[in-house]
Amino acid sequence: MSDSEDDDIPQLSSHALAALQEFYAEQKQYTNPDGDDKYNIGIIEENWQLSQFWYTEETALCLAQEAIAAAGKGGRIACVSAPSVYQKLKELHREDFSTYIFEYDRRFAMYKDEFIFYDYNNPLDLPGNIAAHSFDIVVADPPHLSEECLRKTSETIKYLTRGKVLLCTGAIMGEVAAQLLGVKVCKFIPDHARNLANEFCCYVNYDSGLDCEAI
Ligand SMILES: C[S@@+](CC[C@H](N)C(=O)[O-])C[C@H]1O[C@@H](n2cnc3c(N)ncnc32)[C@H](O)[C@@H]1O
Repeated sequence: MSDSEDDDIPQLSSHALAALQEFYAEQKQYTNPDGDDKYNIGIIEENWQLSQFWYTEETALCLAQEAIAAAGKGGRIACVSAPSVYQKLKELHREDFSTYIFEYDRRFAMYKDEFIFYDYNNPLDLPGNIAAHSFDIVVADPPHLSEECLRKTSETIKYLTRGKVLLCTGAIMGEVAAQLLGVKVCKFIPDHARNLANEFCCYVNYDSGLDCEAI
């Protein structure tokens, strides 16, 4: 091939090439949407612009088991901005409860009918099939450590729950959480896959296994 023929071949800029590589990497996550690994925490990579900080496997399991116990046999569990808990619940392959994932990140739409698009800015903008007070427990982890975000998320939580609330958020939100949801802090400390600058806590409004020292 002569030099002049080489010049005719279109070249991608380094930016375009990087974007293409990122696109292929994202596509790879969905190559087998029905495979066994589709509920792996981390199958959707953290997007820090969406305040995504995934729990460790151990924390997600602990929260999932607590939600199952609190919901009771045949119970319904809402995971609000807490996708790792939803994923862990599904990974357990149990049929004695049902669960939905309320999420802003549409990549989680891979979970089809159990995915409910949710933006905390519009707390009650939910589809018609989501009836008021139709969940035995709501597990929530709002995206921001602000009074406004927690207040709006609390509206959703109160709409969805039949009573029980399990909230994970920063320790600095404890007082506001108590006022808005009547929750108290647990001894259990949630852990994240990547270290966070903020101290995190779990809060509940019922007698919970997470209060046990043994956890
Ligand atoms: C602090 S993370 C909690 C995730 C949790 N640690 C886990 O591992 O499941 C906050 C979550 O809120 C979601 N989020 C971001 N913007 C949102 C919005 N406008 N409305 C509702 N949720 C949002 C993020 O996608 C993320 O899943």
